[in-house]
Formats: sequence, C-alpha cells, structure tokens
Amino acid sequence: MTNAELELTTSAATPSASTTMKALVYHGPGKCAWEDKPRPAIQDPGDAIVRITTSTICGTDLHILKGDLPAVTDGRILGHEGIGVVEHVGTGVSEFHVGDKVIISCVTACLKCDFCKRGMYSHCRHGGWILGCTIDGTQAECVRIPQADGSLHHFPADGDEEALVMLCDILPTGYECGVLNGQVKPGDAVAIVGAGPVGLAVLLTAQFYSPAAIFMIDLDDKRLAVAKKFGATTLINSTDGHAAHHLMELTEGAGVDVAIEAVGVPATFDICQAVVAAGGRIANVGVHGKPVELHMEKLWDRNISLTTRLVDTVTTPMLLKVVRSGKLQPSKLVTHRFAMNDIMKAYDTFGNAAKEGALKVILANGGLR
Ligand SMILES: NC(=O)c1ccc[n+]([C@@H]2O[C@H](COP(=O)([O-])OP(=O)(O)OC[C@H]3O[C@@H](n4cnc5c(N)ncnc54)[C@H](O)[C@@H]3O)[C@@H](O)[C@H]2O)c1
Ligand SMILES: [Zn+2]
Ligand SMILES: [Zn+2]
Repeated sequence: MTNAELELTTSAATPSASTTMKALVYHGPGKCAWEDKPRPAIQDPGDAIVRITTSTICGTDLHILKGDLPAVTDGRILGHEGIGVVEHVGTGVSEFHVGDKVIISCVTACLKCDFCKRGMYSHCRHGGWILGCTIDGTQAECVRIPQADGSLHHFPADGDEEALVMLCDILPTGYECGVLNGQVKPGDAVAIVGAGPVGLAVLLTAQFYSPAAIFMIDLDDKRLAVAKKFGATTLINSTDGHAAHHLMELTEGAGVDVAIEAVGVPATFDICQAVVAAGGRIANVGVHGKPVELHMEKLWDRNISLTTRLVDTVTTPMLLKVVRSGKLQPSKLVTHRFAMNDIMKAYDTFGNAAKEGALKVILANGGLR
C-alpha cells in the first residue's frame, strides 16, 4: 500500500479490525448460507470499501437462486443494492472520502469507456452489472465497489435509507427499462405485467407522464391491492390464465399502447404480445432464464416495437431529486425489516412473498426501526 493510500484509509469511519465478516454466500441453485468470508480490501486504485448499513433483496436474487443466471458461481456473495459508509478508498478515487455515506448503484460504471460515454453503463467494459453477480455483493457487512467514482452516489443529509435504497436498482430499472423504453406518453393505455417491487416501480414512475389507464396484472391479490393504492386504474389477476383475454375485453379489443413485462417468465411475455395495440411497444424488464416464443405470425403487421434493457442507472441522479422532493415515495414499498444477521429469514419471507405479503424487505446492519 502506498503512503497516500495509508493516509486515505486512516479512518473517520472506524473500520473494523477483524479480517472476516458475515455474508450471504451462494452455493449453486437453491443453496445459500450466511457465513464467514474475508473482509474485502482495496484491489485497484478506483476501488472503495463500503460498510453496508442497509441492503435489500431483489427478484433477480431469486432468479440467481433458481439457477437462472449461470454467470453467478458457487462462493459468490449476493446482493446488488445497498447504502453504506465509505471505510477505505483507493488512490484513484476523487469524489468520495472515508466517512462519506453513499448509495451503491447496482451497476458499476467507469464513465470512460465507449459504452459509458453512450450512457450505457450496464455494458461498461470495466463494470456493468457485476455486483453480486460476477464479483461479491452487498448482502454482507462490507463490500468492495470498483470504479467507485462512477458507481456511488452521495447520500443526501436529509435522506432516508429505506427510501433511497430503492434507487440502487428498482427505481432506475422500472423507469429506464419499462417507462423510458416503453415510451409512455400522456393519454397512453399501459399494461404492467408483474406487481413485484420492479413492476410497482414502473407503476410509480410511469405516472410522471400521465398515462390515461394503467392495467396491473399479477397472480397475487395483495400486490394488486398495493398497485391500486399506487395509482393503477384496473387490476387483473392472471391466475385463471386468461389475463390477456380480460384486458382485451376491457379495452374493447384495442389492447394497450405500452405492455411492460416485469416478471421474467414465458407466460408473462406471452401476455404482453397478446395485448399490445397496433403501433404499440413491448418493453421487457424481467430477467429470463428460459426461451420465450416470439409470435411473429401475429405481430409482423402490427407496427410494434420490442425492447430489452439491463438497467443503466443513468437516471439515478434525476430520480434522487424526485424522491427528495417528496413526489415519489419509494419507502412505501417496504413491508418487512430484518437485521442483516437474519437474512435467511428475510429470503424466506421474500421468496414466499404472496403468503407473507412481502414487497421490499429491508436488511439492516445495526439498529432496526
Ligand atoms: N432488466 C433489469 O435490469 C432488471 C433489474 C432488476 C430486476 N429485474 C427483473 O425484474 C423482474 C421483477 O423483479 P421483482 O423484484 O419485482 O420480482 P418479484 O419476484 O418480487 O415479482 C415478480 C411478480 O411477478 C408475479 N408473477 C409471477 N408469475 C406471474 C404470471 N404468470 N402472471 C402474472 N404475474 C406473475 C409474481 O406474483 C410477483 O408479484 C425480475 O425478473 C427481476 O429479475 C430486471
Ligand atoms: Zn436487482
Ligand atoms: Zn465504462
């Protein structure tokens, strides 16, 4: 370590002297455990080590546990959402200092490569979505954040951790992959398939544009009831397998201008294909582990467009302003709180969301509310 590094790591945040920490470790499909791992250390000049204060679980973590993402291998610490305090910084980090409270973006961005310069941080040549995927993640006491200048945001003094942890992933995901790619416009009819946290983030941010109708489709009446409170105009429970038919009846055969897929299974992609109106857009948000059928025999003459996107998190600074203004209140998504040590229980609750009435589960290192 250089002298400069030593100086930078002298702590305002009293880093732990321990060389190990607890973390949620993936051990192949269906298996994970809360166990000891080495505390992360600076590896590159652009790194920061962040002590996690708040984290949460994403639907994508459930996909990983199902084995849908083979890039995630045995031994990986999961988690790509978190708020924390910077404990160490490498010599190349200029915007963050020891003791700063930060919002960790789920996407790592160098801000310098060709993809970053196009605003496509998700495909950054030195990052992208690696956290809790190909490098160790945030469901731990501490995490190493590469490219810290591009991957962290300052946590505002008036911020609420439970609200702002939604900026790590679900709010930019819903907004970028769903609302922006779906080009939601005033007066549009929009269908959102999936009323999980991501679908609800689509619902909240779609309303920036005053769509005339928002159909929310899910299997879970509790989640649909939340969607109603958050501004959905019509709820459709798709348990009977006829959601598309019901929606087409309700729209007198017209369908919707924008169909947003926020689940990641073939059945929900099929609903989107069946309900998109002529001239409409299908925006896929869900992470898919299996092939879907593309019904070109029905869509070839419908003038539709289909988009896919891995969240870029380029809109996070804008969304932070909207949350701070009070116009967007993502803490409404929090249904359960657990100490980080109880993360296995938290996974149980989030994995049985319908039974438990769970949306976002907060994982707190330290005190619980
Ligand atoms: N593109 C990206 O960058 C990105 C980023 C984050 C999350 N995601 C993905 O977004 C998706 C949603 O995430 P989440 O956290 O809200 O997940 P989640 O698992 O909490 O929610 C999924 C919802 O889909 C519903 N559902 C399941 N099968 C259905 C069916 N046949 N018909 C209607 N509804 C059905 C469930 O009841 C649940 O409410 C996941 O696939 C996740 O991996 C994508
Ligand atoms: Zn996620
Ligand atoms: Zn880059």
